[in-house]
Amino acid sequence: MKTIVILAMILIPVWTSVLFAQVIRGDSKTGRHLYEQQCLRCHGANLDGNGSDSKDLVIPPANLQSQKSRSKTDWELLVAISNGVLFSPMHGFRGKLTDQQMLDVLSYIRSVAPHDITS
Ligand code: HEC
Repeated sequence: MKTIVILAMILIPVWTSVLFAQVIRGDSKTGRHLYEQQCLRCHGANLDGNGSDSKDLVIPPANLQSQKSRSKTDWELLVAISNGVLFSPMHGFRGKLTDQQMLDVLSYIRSVAPHDITS
């Protein structure tokens, strides 16, 4: 039992730092191109959810500039990109984009709509 606690104390900070480092490593320039190819038609050029396909969707694309989206962590957004959002037109991009490409897109989103937990 004691060993498990000690192991967890060592490994949890290591895991989180690895995840965090990966999130930081995305390239926003590459991400921008990927966004334009894969996401723009729904989320729009300004990331505000007003892409050309948005009016045909029953559930509107998230406004990534909104406080609601900006207050979410990188990790939460990454899970949405990777796994999709259940019962919505937002399908998962795992398999379509590589892990690195998803980090690149995330990095682009964060460069335009930075993480903000105020208000
Ligand atoms: C077919 C339209 C469509 C495409 C293409 C699309 N999305 Fe989405 N996306 C949605 C919808 C709709 C939602 C909102 C789901 C909800 O509110 O339940 C969403 C939600 C999200 C969220 C969650 C936001 C939040 O605040 O929780 C992120 C992040 C996201 N999309 C990123 C992307 C990225 C990055 C791409 C391209 C790689 C992409 N989406 C492509 C329709 C789309």
